[in-house]
Amino acid sequence: MTDTSFDLTIRNGRISNADGTFHADIGVRNGVIVEIAPKLAASTRDVDAAGRWVLPGGIDSHCHIEQISGMGVMCADDFHSGTVSAAFGGTTTILSFAAQHRADSIPEVVAAYGKLAREKAVIDYGFHLILANPDETALREHLPQVIRDGITSLKVYMTYDKLKLDDYQLLEVMSVAGEEGALVMMHAENHDMIRWIAHRLLERGHVAPKFHAVAHDTLAESEATNRAIALARLAGVPVLIVHVAGRETVEVIRNARRLGAAVYAESCPQYLFLEASDSDLPGMEGAKFCCSPPPRDADAQEAVWAGLQDGTLGLYSSDHAPYRFDASGKLPKGDATTFKEMANGVPGIELRLPLLFSEGVMKGRLSIEEFVALTSTHHARMYGLAPRKGAITVGADADVVLWNPGRSVTVGTAMLHDNVGYTPYEGRVLQGWPEMVFSRGRCVVADNTLQVERGSGQYIARGRPDPLTRRPTASPGQGRFSQLIGLERGH
Ligand code: URP
Ligand code: ZN
Ligand code: ZN
Repeated sequence: MTDTSFDLTIRNGRISNADGTFHADIGVRNGVIVEIAPKLAASTRDVDAAGRWVLPGGIDSHCHIEQISGMGVMCADDFHSGTVSAAFGGTTTILSFAAQHRADSIPEVVAAYGKLAREKAVIDYGFHLILANPDETALREHLPQVIRDGITSLKVYMTYDKLKLDDYQLLEVMSVAGEEGALVMMHAENHDMIRWIAHRLLERGHVAPKFHAVAHDTLAESEATNRAIALARLAGVPVLIVHVAGRETVEVIRNARRLGAAVYAESCPQYLFLEASDSDLPGMEGAKFCCSPPPRDADAQEAVWAGLQDGTLGLYSSDHAPYRFDASGKLPKGDATTFKEMANGVPGIELRLPLLFSEGVMKGRLSIEEFVALTSTHHARMYGLAPRKGAITVGADADVVLWNPGRSVTVGTAMLHDNVGYTPYEGRVLQGWPEMVFSRGRCVVADNTLQVERGSGQYIARGRPDPLTRRPTASPGQGRFSQLIGLERGH
C-alpha cells in the first residue's frame, strides 16, 4: 500500500542524531519531516535505507565561496561548484562569507553575495559578514540591518594587513554584536608576531612554502586566542574562535571554559589530518598545504582530537578556502612567489565529513552521535539554524544523508566536484561514504550524480545564535565593564 500523505519515505535505516541512535522510517511532506515511526507505508518516492546510516545533513559553517580574499585573490569555487562539492560530501547547508573589504559598503556586499548564491547554489546557504571596516556607519546602521536580515554572525580578523582590527575596534564590534544579537567569530593570530618572524625569514632568503608555518608560530595563535577571550569577557559577549590548530590554543580555550567564559571553538580537517611538514616539498608543491593558522604536528593533532572529544572544540567545519595552483590562486608570482605572497587556504568542503567519518567514527575516536553533533547539530544551534536544521526530527527540514559504512574510497582529485584541481588528501583510503543526499526532501545526490538544478538552494535567514539567547554564566571578568561601572549593557 502506498501512503500518499508523504511525498518521500526513507525506510529501514539506522538513524543517528546527536542524542541517540534508533531504527525507524522517515515520512516527508513538502520538504519537512512530518513523521518518524518504526514502520511507515511506502510513499510514491520510497528509499530503502537498509544497511545505511541515516544522518542529518552536514552543516559547514565555515567555507569561502566565490570570495575575494583579504589578499585580493578570487576563490576557485563559485556557488555552483562549491555547493555541488559540499553536497557530494554529505553537506546540505553551508554558511559562507559575505566579505567586506575596507572601502566596500556593507549593504552592497551582502546584496552582491546574495545574488551570486541565489543564481547558483544547489543546497541551502546563509552568510556570515566579514567586517573589515567597523566605522560608525557600519556599527550603528549596517551591522544592525544585516543582523535583522538573518546574518547573525560576523567574522573579524586579528591579522592580515587588509583585514586586521585592533583591540579597541574588536571591543567596539563585540559590544555592538552583543547588543544586536550576533555572534563574533574570531580569526585569532597575533599580527605583529607573524610579521616579525616573516621579516626575519625573508631577510635571510627563506621564502619557500614551508616557512609559512614557521612565520605563523603556534604562540601567535595562542596569544591572540587568549586576548580575544579576554576582550570578549570584558565586553560581556560570547566569542567563537575559528580554525583552532595548536595544542596551546586548545588549552587556552579549555581553561577559559573551565572559568565559565562563554567561549566556543571550531577546528577543521587540516588540523587533524595534515602537518606543517607536509608543506616541506620540492619547489612550490608545499603551497598546497598552506593555510592560516597552519597545520602543526602530531602532538597538536592529538590535542585537536582531544578537544573534539571533550567538547572544548564543539564545531568541525571545512574552512574550505579553494585556490588553484597557479597565478590566479596560490601562486601570484609563479615559482617566484614567496610564502608571504601565497594565497592562504586549503580545500576541504567535500572531504570534511568523509575524513571525520572514516578516521573518527570508523576508527573509534568518536561515536556516531558525536560525529553528528560536531558536523551538524552544534552548527545549527551555534548559528541560529535550529530547530529547522541539524537533526532528524519531526518539523525539521528533510536534510538527510544516507551513509554506507561498508564502502571504501581512495581519494583522488578527479572524483571531487570542486574547481581546485588538487586535494591535500590525495591517495588516502577512507572507510564509509555519503551515497544519497536529500535537502528539504529533494534528492540532491544519488548514483554519484547531481540530481538538482543550479539555483535550487535556498537562502536561510538565521535566528539568534544559541550562545546569545543565554546570559553568560557568572565568570570572573565576564561583562567586567558593566560590573565595574554598575551598568547593564544597553543602558
Ligand atoms: O588560510 C585560510 N584559512 N584561509 C582562509 C581565510 C581564513 O582566515 O579563514
Ligand atoms: Zn580565518
Ligand atoms: Zn576561513
